Amino acid sequence: MAIDRQAGRGVRPAAEQGDVNTTEARQRYWERNLAGEARMWFDEDSRYFLHQSLSTPVLNVLARAEGAWLEDLDGKRYLDMHGNGVHNAGFNHPAVVGAVKEQLDQGLSFCPRRYTNLPMVRLAKKLAEITPGGLSRSLFCPSGSDAIEMALKLARYVTGRFKTISYWDSFHGAGFGAAGVGGEEHFHGGLGPLVPGAFHVEFPNYYRNPWRFTREEDVDAECLRQIELVLRREPEMAAVIGEPISANPVVPSRRYWEGVRELCVRYGALLIFDEVIEGFGRTGRMFASEHFLTPDILVLGKSLGGGIVPLAGIVTQEKYNCCPDRSVGHYTHEKNALSAAAALAEIAVIEQEDLCGRAANLGAHALERLRAMAGRHPLIGSVTGIGLHIGIDLVRDRQTKERAPREAEAIMFKCLERGLAFKTIDGNIITLRPALVITREELDWALDILDEAIGEVEAGAGY
Ligand SMILES: Cc1ncc(COP(=O)(O)O)c(C=O)c1O
Repeated sequence: MAIDRQAGRGVRPAAEQGDVNTTEARQRYWERNLAGEARMWFDEDSRYFLHQSLSTPVLNVLARAEGAWLEDLDGKRYLDMHGNGVHNAGFNHPAVVGAVKEQLDQGLSFCPRRYTNLPMVRLAKKLAEITPGGLSRSLFCPSGSDAIEMALKLARYVTGRFKTISYWDSFHGAGFGAAGVGGEEHFHGGLGPLVPGAFHVEFPNYYRNPWRFTREEDVDAECLRQIELVLRREPEMAAVIGEPISANPVVPSRRYWEGVRELCVRYGALLIFDEVIEGFGRTGRMFASEHFLTPDILVLGKSLGGGIVPLAGIVTQEKYNCCPDRSVGHYTHEKNALSAAAALAEIAVIEQEDLCGRAANLGAHALERLRAMAGRHPLIGSVTGIGLHIGIDLVRDRQTKERAPREAEAIMFKCLERGLAFKTIDGNIITLRPALVITREELDWALDILDEAIGEVEAGAGY
C-alpha cells in the first residue's frame, strides 16, 4: 500500500504550521494596524516578555472583551472565533462576573489545601450530575496541561503501567507530560526527551489520511489496526488519550471510538478524553463524549473557569478512587473557592441559556452556509465540524489536496482588518469557534466577511 505522508499530517516547515508570529504577513499586519499608544504597549510587551512562537510578539493589544467580542486599545471590535476556548458563555458574562464578585465579598477566595468550601463541594457535585455515564469523582488544578498530567498519573496508578497512545498533531498542553502525549512538532523539537513510552498514531481523518482512503470504514479500520499494532508490541500500555473530536476538527464515527474502547478493554488500558476545548456545550452537547461513549477519565478546562479564572480538572469513575496513599494532583489552587464560584455560574449560564442547543442549531446553520460556499470557492477543499466547532480546509488543488497555508493566512489577516478574528490550524485550516452566545446575525455577518475574503484571495489578492 502506498503511503502518502503529504496527504496525511505530512512534514511542514514551522512557518506553515499556522498562526506563527514570524511570517511576513504578520509583519505587514503590525505595520498596517499598530500605531500610537497600541504600538507603544506592543513594543513594551515585546521588550519584557520571553519571545516564543505563537505568543510573543503578540498580535495586538486588547482593552476589553465582552460576549462574543474583543476590543483593542484603539476601540476597534473583533468578533472572536477563537477565544482560546475559554469563552463558551461569552467573555465576562454578567452572571459569572457577579458570582465572582459575590464570592469575593463573602470573604473566601483562596482555600488552603487541607480544607474545603461550599462552592467547591457544589462544583464537584454538579460535575458528577452533568458528566456522562457514572463519572463522579473530581480533582481540580489551574490548567488543562496539569489536568492532563493528573489523568496520566491516575492511569499509571490504576494500571501499574506507564506507556500511552495518543495522536499526531494533537495538543494537550505545555508541560512535559502533556507535551509528551501531544503530537505537534512545535512543542517537541529541541527539548530532549519528554516522557518515556509516549506512542503516537494517526487520528481517523476522512478527508486527509496517509493511505488516501475515502471510505470512512476503511479509515477507521486502518486507524484501529495501527492502535492494535502498538498495543500488541507494547504490553505496558496505561492509556489511550485523545480529544473525542480532533482540533482541526474531524468528527470520527462512533464506530471508531467504540473500536478504541474495545481495544482498551482487551489490552487493559484506560481511555482518557481531553475535553478541555470540547466540553461545556461547544459541540452541541454539554460534553463531546456524549456523541460517542463515556471515557474512564474526562479532562476539563478552559471554559470551566468561566473565561475569568484559570480552572481545569478531571472527572473519573468511582472505581478509580483508589489511591488514598498517593497524590496525583496536589495543586495549591485545588479547591479555590473563587474558581468554583465562576465555574458554577458558567455551568448555570450554559444550562439556563440553552447554549448546547444554540451551538447545535447555529453550528448546523454555519455548516450549511459554508458547504454552499464551497460550491462557489475552489479554495475550500472540505468543511468539517459539529456544533460551533468548525474547520475549513483550504487547498490549492482539490485533486491533490495541496494545502494552502499562505492563502489561509491572507484570508485571516483580511478578516481581522474587517473585525473578524479566528485562528488557522495545521497551516491551512481556518477554525471557527465563536462564543456560544453569538447571535445568528453576528454569525451570518462573520460568514459574509469570510466569503468576501476567500473570494478576494481566489482572485489573486494577497495580504
Ligand atoms: C485540547 C487541549 N488540551 C489541553 C490544553 C492545555 O490547557 P492549558 O493551556 O490550560 O494548560 C489545551 C490548550 O489549548 C487544549 O487545547
